[in-house]
Amino acid sequence: MNTIWADMRDGIDDGLMEEAGRILQSGGLVAFPTETVYGLGANALDPEASAKIYSAKGRPSDNPLIVHIHRLDSLDPIVRTVPRKALVLAHAFWPGPLTMILDRSSLVPSSVTGGLDTVAVRMPDHPVALSLIQAGGGYIAAPSANTSGRPSPTTAQHVRDDLNGRIEMIIDGGSVGIGVESTIIDLTETLPMILRPGFISIDMLRSVIGEVKMDPGLHSEDPAFRPKAPGMKYRHYAPRAELTIVEGSEEHVRAAIDQLARSAISRGLTCGIIAADEDASAYHAGIVRSAGSRAKEITISQHLFGILREFDDLGVDVIYSESFDTPQIGAAIMNRLIKAAGHHILSV
Ligand code: TXA
Ligand code: MG
Repeated sequence: MNTIWADMRDGIDDGLMEEAGRILQSGGLVAFPTETVYGLGANALDPEASAKIYSAKGRPSDNPLIVHIHRLDSLDPIVRTVPRKALVLAHAFWPGPLTMILDRSSLVPSSVTGGLDTVAVRMPDHPVALSLIQAGGGYIAAPSANTSGRPSPTTAQHVRDDLNGRIEMIIDGGSVGIGVESTIIDLTETLPMILRPGFISIDMLRSVIGEVKMDPGLHSEDPAFRPKAPGMKYRHYAPRAELTIVEGSEEHVRAAIDQLARSAISRGLTCGIIAADEDASAYHAGIVRSAGSRAKEITISQHLFGILREFDDLGVDVIYSESFDTPQIGAAIMNRLIKAAGHHILSV
């Protein structure tokens, strides 16, 4: 298949957007930018269309998709009820990087929800995404547009690297603003529960709806505590290299990473280092990549997945990363990093 490249970095191209709408309405796949990561869209109300998402990505069929909408009126038809807290959250954070889990109506095919009675819904905050959802009929199922198991794409080129020739169109909207996937909150529990941390932090959620808990399965290695979001049980974002997070005081971390890198290199390995801007110049061995500044934490989330992809491309064997437990997005960044590291953390 020839994948159409639609350049919308400087704004929406009406002709190409119409074509994207036609592709979606006839059951095809279009990758598009959102404020979090690039998504791979299909008509959510067409079970055959969403089935194509699973085969293009190589995604397990029990891992449900997020349904993207472009206006609040679209919510009612796809859910059984709209709880008051969902409305409060929608008014506070939509369009934006928040996905809500609600009881689904019969309009949503069970193939989209992996057989669950609930549906994940989000209204993204990106003009290209909103326009595409409208052009495609109002309900677009979209996972991150990577092949299953690779870091989520934060540029259209990342999408091309993974899915070229497997989907009808890629819309290039430039680099994304946030770089980690949306916060997922489950509103079907008595107490709202975060199933995946993202840019919208637990404190931001609590400030509008009161008590919110974290899924205890999120960071547990105990198989008795499985994460509730099916996708969170996979070792996502796994770079080909062995990744170790090194945490501790700034001084100790710098010394330990420098020593680990030198030792890896002396064993003939190619070594990558992920550092903050503030520390990058302290490392003199290995391939050093600065994720961003601790003082401006969004720069770290923006670059993390791209760095993991670059290290894959460079054939890096081992990666040592600093820890990025920053105030707002830190929980999301560390969730992704810890999974990429397969829970391999060294305290120094
Ligand atoms: O920022 C984002 O959310 C991006 C952009 C494209 O919108 N999308 C995204 O989709 O990250 P995906 O498919 O990569 O991740 C969706 C996550 C998976 O972990 C999935 O298991 C979970 O949401 N999920 C979807 N529906 C669910 C449901 N009904 N109950 C629990 N978890 C659900
Ligand atoms: Mg994903």
